[in-house]
Amino acid sequence: MTDTLDRARATLRANDRGGYTVPTARLYPFQWNWDSAFVAMGFATFDEARAWREIERLLEGQWGDGLIPQIVFHAPSDNYFPGPEVWGTRHAPPTSSITQPPVLAPAARRVLDTATNHGEAEARMAAIYPALLGNHRWWQRARDPLRTGLVATLHPWETGMDNSPAWDRAMARVPTTTTTVVRRRDNVHIDPAMRPRAEDYQRFIHLVDCFRDAGWDPARMLAASPFRVADTGTVAILLRAEQDLLALSRRFGSAAEQAEIADRIALQRAGIATLWNEQAGIWMARDLIDGAPAVVGTSAGFLPLYAHAAEAEQSRRSAATLTRWAEKVRFLVPSTDPADAAFEPLRYWRGPIWAVVNWMIADGLDWAGQPKLAARVRADTATLIDTAGPWEYFDATDGKEAGGADFSWTAAIRLLMG
Ligand code: GLC
Repeated sequence: MTDTLDRARATLRANDRGGYTVPTARLYPFQWNWDSAFVAMGFATFDEARAWREIERLLEGQWGDGLIPQIVFHAPSDNYFPGPEVWGTRHAPPTSSITQPPVLAPAARRVLDTATNHGEAEARMAAIYPALLGNHRWWQRARDPLRTGLVATLHPWETGMDNSPAWDRAMARVPTTTTTVVRRRDNVHIDPAMRPRAEDYQRFIHLVDCFRDAGWDPARMLAASPFRVADTGTVAILLRAEQDLLALSRRFGSAAEQAEIADRIALQRAGIATLWNEQAGIWMARDLIDGAPAVVGTSAGFLPLYAHAAEAEQSRRSAATLTRWAEKVRFLVPSTDPADAAFEPLRYWRGPIWAVVNWMIADGLDWAGQPKLAARVRADTATLIDTAGPWEYFDATDGKEAGGADFSWTAAIRLLMG
C-alpha cells in the first residue's frame, strides 16, 4: 500500500519537467490538458504548491479567446507527431489548436478545497479564476453559438478518447487524404496492435489540415469540420465543470458571473438529457451533422452521473447497465461495452480500462446513490495499479497492463483513491 503510493508519487516526480508533468516519458513529451488537471489533483495529495504550478503552466498555453489547448509544447521534442510545426500557430509557448475535456475547474476546486495552506490556495485560485471563466465562455461561444445545450467536439483527440467506436460512424465521413505528411512516432514506442490504425491517423491529420486552412478561427472550424459530435464525455465534464465554477464564482467572482454560469448550467442540463438512450440504459453521443445517435455504449456514457445530471430512474438504469458489463469482464470499467462487436480488449479506447474515467464514474455513482458499485470501481482501479503499476491503461478481461508505463494520470488517480 505504502509502496504503491510511494511509487505513484515517484512517477509524478519523475515525469516533472519543471512545473509541468509529461503524461509519460518519450511517448508523450509535452503537457496535455486533461492529464494535467488530474495530475494537479494527484500532486495536491502531497505537494500543494506543485499542484497549483501544474495548473498555472497549463494556462500559459491559453489563447486570448479562452481556448485551453490540448497540448502545450513547452520544450521541443522529436518523439511526437504532430508537433508544433504541423499546427503552425503563433502562440508562445507553441500549442496545438484544439482542446480536450475541461476537467480543470473541478481539479482547481478540489486543490483549493483540500488545501492546508489556505492563504496560498486562496491567492492562487483567485489569480486563475478569470482564466477558467474565460475558458467556459469560449466553450459556449466557439462550440455552441446557437445555444442548443450541446457543445460540439470537432476532433476525436478533443474527446480524449481518440479511437472510441463511438466515433466510427462520424469518422467514416472524414477523408483519409492529407496535405501534411503523416510521420507517426507512437508506433515506434508502443506495439501498433494497441494503437489507432493507419487510416484513423490519416483522418486525424485530415482534420488538423482542415482547421489550419480555416485559420484556427472557431466559427470557420465549426462550419468546415466534417467531424462534429456531441460527446457524452465532454458534454458531461463541461456541465460538471460549470457547477464547480459556479461554486468558485461565489467566492472569487461577481453576482453577474454567477447568473451567467447558472444560465449555462440550465441550458446544458437540457442538452445532456437528450443524449439518454432509453433502450440501452446509457447516455450516447450524437452526430451533430446528421443528428444520428451513436449505437455503441462506451464508458463516457456513464459520465452524466459525474455531471449530476441524471433522473433517479436513469441513475438506476445506468447502474444496471454497468452491472451487466461487469458480468462480461473481470475488471471495471471497460471503455467499450464488452458485449458489443466493437469491443477490442487491448486497442486503446476500444476496450481497455482507463483509471481517470473510472475515477469520474465512481464519483458519479456515489452521487447517484450507488455506493457499492462506486466502491467496486475504485477497488478494481486500485487492484490493477497495485498489481501492475501505473500503466496507461489495462485489459478489462485479465487486468494486464498496456500502452505506456509510469503514466502520470494513472499515478495521480492512485493517490486520489488513497
Ligand atoms: C492520448 C489519450 C488522451 C491523453 C493523451 C496523453 O492521446 O487518448 O486522452 O490525454 O494520450 O496522455
